[in-house]
Amino acid sequence: MSEPTQTTQASKPERKKIILSGIQPTGVFTLGNYLGAIRNWAAMQEDYNCAYCIANLHAITVRQDAAKLRQQTIACYALILACGIDPKKSLTFIQSHVPTHAELSWVLSCYTQFGELSRMTQFKDKSLKHPENVNVGLFTYPDLMAADILLYQADLVPVGADQKQHLEITRDIAVRFNNLYGNVFTLPEPYIPKVGARIMSLAEPTKKMSKSDENQNAFISILDAPEVIVKKFKRAVTDSQAEVAYREGKDGINNLMTIYSSVTGDSFETIERDFAGKGYGDFKQAVGEAVAEHLRPVRENFDRLMKDKAYLEECYTEGAKKALAISARTLDKVYHKVGFVKPIR
Ligand code: TYM
Repeated sequence: MSEPTQTTQASKPERKKIILSGIQPTGVFTLGNYLGAIRNWAAMQEDYNCAYCIANLHAITVRQDAAKLRQQTIACYALILACGIDPKKSLTFIQSHVPTHAELSWVLSCYTQFGELSRMTQFKDKSLKHPENVNVGLFTYPDLMAADILLYQADLVPVGADQKQHLEITRDIAVRFNNLYGNVFTLPEPYIPKVGARIMSLAEPTKKMSKSDENQNAFISILDAPEVIVKKFKRAVTDSQAEVAYREGKDGINNLMTIYSSVTGDSFETIERDFAGKGYGDFKQAVGEAVAEHLRPVRENFDRLMKDKAYLEECYTEGAKKALAISARTLDKVYHKVGFVKPIR
């Protein structure tokens, strides 16, 4: 991520649009994370100024084992590089290394209404899932996510469909702040893929695929071995008909067709034609093989990167320094607007 680039002398300087997104280091990414978000992150880095963070501050809203979280944070950082994100082209950093995120989050929480946060579906879902730990961080989670986005003046936020509500509240907070203090924040738009925005569980296809699912057969981890991937797809829950067709009520098959289409680029019509007259067994085998092959470079890159911890450290340290310099500009402006005495940096 860099300053806007100058084109010709006569034309105006062209500003590349700014992208920001994040992922929690709460386990190896699933195929849902990959197809819904990370694959787009890699594709966007040529045409946009991109910033990607490992959201470890968000991760502790659910109880984590400290040693495991540390290890997973490094592994997740390696994984985003393994998925094709180039730290020379994109700003890549670990959220807790850049203190401006927590600082802006506090300010934003003073411009967010209790009622707004109470309506967040993720808060309601996670409160039900962890009734013993409905902590305040879980409640104010959207303010931290808004801070991540607004600090970098992001224009676009590539996410899966489940994050749409968090993007909407980010915009509401930004509009409220801008109405009070002038144009401080760029209003971000969600960037949600047409196919793959909501990959479903293989075991319960009406439920989102999630890395925290207790049933290992419900999700594909992007580091699963090829034979494990094929086996999990063979076990995927479908229906009692035997027609590979995208139709209402065929949640399992619709999900498998979405996945197959995302990794091969084939349209639903092409898939229906190619598998006409064939059974679900053949289709599941084909989906499994296509996914295993698609993820092969990710697995190979990951193994190589994890052997070079010094390189990873160099990348995330450099990323954090740059992220701090960029985000501090927005934070300083915010602090000035709300009436804080100029900080010494
Ligand atoms: P997280 O870690 O739950 O997921 C990371 C990204 O993966 C997408 N995703 C999916 N897409 C399709 N199908 C699925 N089954 C699926 N499961 C997950 C998510 O939509 C997300 O884009 N709060 C965020 C992390 C975050 C963030 C940010 C995102 C922190 N700061 C700033 C954007 C901007 C989260 O928990 O994502």
